[in-house]
Amino acid sequence: MILVTGTKGQLGSDVSAELKKRNIPHIPSDVDTLDITDKAAVEKFFGENDISAVIHCAAYTAVDKAESESELCFKINAEGTENLAIECSKKGAKMLYVSTDYVFPGDGDKPFGVNDKKNPQNVYGKSKLMGEEAVKKHLSKFFIVRTSWVFGEKNTNFIHTMLRLSETRDEVSVVCDQIGSPTYAKDLARLLCDIIATDKYGEYHAHNSGFCSWNELAEETFRIAKKNVKVNPVTSEEYKTAAKRPKNSRLSMTAVTENGFTPLQHWKDAVKEYLGNIL
Ligand SMILES: NC(=O)c1ccc[n+]([C@@H]2O[C@H](COP(=O)([O-])OP(=O)(O)OC[C@H]3O[C@@H](n4cnc5c(N)ncnc54)[C@H](OP(=O)(O)O)[C@@H]3O)[C@@H](O)[C@H]2O)c1
Repeated sequence: MILVTGTKGQLGSDVSAELKKRNIPHIPSDVDTLDITDKAAVEKFFGENDISAVIHCAAYTAVDKAESESELCFKINAEGTENLAIECSKKGAKMLYVSTDYVFPGDGDKPFGVNDKKNPQNVYGKSKLMGEEAVKKHLSKFFIVRTSWVFGEKNTNFIHTMLRLSETRDEVSVVCDQIGSPTYAKDLARLLCDIIATDKYGEYHAHNSGFCSWNELAEETFRIAKKNVKVNPVTSEEYKTAAKRPKNSRLSMTAVTENGFTPLQHWKDAVKEYLGNIL
């Protein structure tokens, strides 16, 4: 049986839907049914259920708020992940941990490879890296899949915010010097279900193909949604946020292709499909 965490969130909900579509038995969970920070509850859950694999999508994901709530962020992303890794280790279960581009330093302009040096620049990135370290410490049968700029049908995301702003504004200012890849949760969910079915353990990067800035993503969103909103480019220095964000969020997907998995569609096609589904 596969345990999926965070199934009320963007990615977890699509992973659960994809497993259901494939008729793969699994237990969907979120904080209301399995609080991953509650060590005793996690232990009890694994004692009562025959878990052979975990797709761990639950996380503290409020990147700016994490700067002032670091204790909670570390508790969920680092300790919560370690609680799951310990139980997977006891059961001999495999674990897929979803991580982030924010574990990298964000310098340069080349895509980061899976083995490149980690140096997170904000609390959220540090907590996710601690989660990765916990997985590696307790398990040999693990997958770490780093992704970026996720948009899905549950919860809010950047595209959702742009659409909301378009209701009241005809101009928005969006950062133009942070480059990365948007990731449609549905596309990533399919890949995660492919990966968990194998024993091709190790580290992966997965996102929709191609790179862009947040500014370009906003423009493409308004173009497809036929919203007449002007997108003004601003720099990271001009658009201050509580958490420092990497300028280079490019991730190399070679581990996905080298292991024979299908890369995700281009981000522009993914945005089009997403908007077609939600509008
Ligand atoms: N979103 C992105 O742009 C992005 C980018 C890179 C990597 N990632 C990673 O991708 C994964 C999925 O992200 P997402 O966008 O789907 O996140 P999300 O929509 O915020 O979903 C995360 C889910 O985890 C739940 N959760 C929080 N604390 C929990 C706990 N103690 N026990 C059990 N569940 C708990 C959340 O519940 P509440 O909402 O009630 O807190 C939420 O339902 C995460 O690992 C994230 O770090 C996301």
